[in-house]
Amino acid sequence: MRNDTALITEQVMIAPDIMRMELETGIAADTSCGQFIQILVPGYFLRRPISVSQVRDDNHLSLIYRIAGDGTRVLSQLKAGVTLDIFGPLGHGFPVIDEDVVLIGGGVGIPPLIETAKRHIMNGHHVTAVLGFASDSQIFAKEELESLNAEVIIATMDGSCGVKGTVMDAVHEYGISKERTVMACGPLGMLRVIGAYFEHGYVSLEERMACGIGACMGCVARTPEGDTLRVCKDGPVFEIGKVVL
Ligand SMILES: Cc1cc2nc3c(=O)[nH]c(=O)nc-3n(C[C@H](O)[C@H](O)[C@H](O)COP(=O)(O)OP(=O)(O)OC[C@H]3O[C@@H](n4cnc5c(N)ncnc54)[C@H](O)[C@@H]3O)c2cc1C
Ligand code: FES
Repeated sequence: MRNDTALITEQVMIAPDIMRMELETGIAADTSCGQFIQILVPGYFLRRPISVSQVRDDNHLSLIYRIAGDGTRVLSQLKAGVTLDIFGPLGHGFPVIDEDVVLIGGGVGIPPLIETAKRHIMNGHHVTAVLGFASDSQIFAKEELESLNAEVIIATMDGSCGVKGTVMDAVHEYGISKERTVMACGPLGMLRVIGAYFEHGYVSLEERMACGIGACMGCVARTPEGDTLRVCKDGPVFEIGKVVL
């Protein structure tokens, strides 16, 4: 992990309030799937953690983020040619395993699953990606995942596209077995049901973060035995059963 500068080479809105930002940075060379970077947004003291959605090559990576508040709003207004101060890659990401996998993402939990899908597909494995959104106008990442040859299943809460309901409704409707290995990222409530259904797999947690390197204890999670974990350093990806959801 290190401090680096990152040149914005492109920034586009890909769905309402969802931005895709392409960065030129040497940090890309050391980044694996499910890791994140901390971005210093001009005018703000605390860095904002954002997952790497794709490593394009050793010098380029891609982020997908939601305009959630003031920091990400400022970030979304920056144009190609602006240089950012970033720190990373941070955390332990998803493992790349030697089998077919089911990836499940809700909203802005989806971005880290794209690089995860790519690495499994490059190793010759089949990837089923179940993506959950509020409605079809919010959908993003579907084409990106399909162009990587992932099988994409969509769930929307209002039924405007794909299965009506949650990602778990789609899992049941498509008969996805609880014995498959799952890798998931999204709201805690979603991860909880996924952790209860699938027998093995991994979940990526999101916590508010300050230092991002394990020093401030600002992002604590617990093991079932009551021990303390830091989401930024011990995670954000944890094996199902090793962390209380
Ligand atoms: C490891 C990690 C990876 C992340 N990856 C992504 C990603 O790939 N794409 C993406 O869109 N977002 C991601 N997030 C969430 C992102 O960091 C926050 O949305 C962002 O920091 C909000 O900053 P802001 O200044 O715009 O909003 P603020 O004004 O700080 O907050 C606005 C709203 O966002 C909520 N929020 C703030 N920080 C977080 C946080 N860390 N996690 C959850 N909610 C938060 C606040 O509670 C509030 O409701 C990630 C968070 C973590 C911890
Ligand atoms: S953000 Fe400081 S320990 Fe995780």
